[in-house]
Amino acid sequence: MDWILENGMNEPVAGTPDTWEKLKGDCAGCMNCELGRTRTNLVFGVGNEHADVMFIGEGPGEQEDLQGEPFVGPAGKLLDVMMEIIGLDRSQVYIANIVKCRPPRNRDPLPDEQSACIGWLHRQIALVDPKIFVFLGRIAAMAFIKPDFRITKEHGQWFDVDGRKSMAIYHPSALLRDPSKRPETFVDLKTLQREIKDLHA
Ligand code: URA
Repeated sequence: MDWILENGMNEPVAGTPDTWEKLKGDCAGCMNCELGRTRTNLVFGVGNEHADVMFIGEGPGEQEDLQGEPFVGPAGKLLDVMMEIIGLDRSQVYIANIVKCRPPRNRDPLPDEQSACIGWLHRQIALVDPKIFVFLGRIAAMAFIKPDFRITKEHGQWFDVDGRKSMAIYHPSALLRDPSKRPETFVDLKTLQREIKDLHA
């Protein structure tokens, strides 16, 4: 995967080992794009900093913006249930987003906003070093798996992203809007659960 880091600050300094402390310090107060002007809080990421599984969403919504934590609104409550179905909770995984600040009216993050922000996520991934990526929805899958990713056709399939097992599933917001997609997501979650079991076999 080619990463285009357009901003100095979110690139790790060559030759210096990155740390969580350094990354959080560099990211705090980021104004690399216009979303910095309208946010209440920057939503960095949460969870186990050495998790085997990393969940990646698209960007904070209203509640996340207010609380500074990813997936704490209605979609987050459903994500908790989805994790619980396969025996996971927030203490076992790491959760982050493609963009760290809320896009106005919850619109999709623009390509420029994604490229201004993706370097932070790249540094988080390098520090977590997960074995498995789970992309929540089309936007994250398009950013990491392939630009023409089709969530309706390709959810639940395994892809290789930089040597890590990678799957996209429907975004919990999509499952709230259209509960008829939930059975397919249940199957995808069970596929993920088997893969996680195999890590420890
Ligand atoms: N949707 C996302 O993609 N991320 C969040 O943190 C919340 C809602």
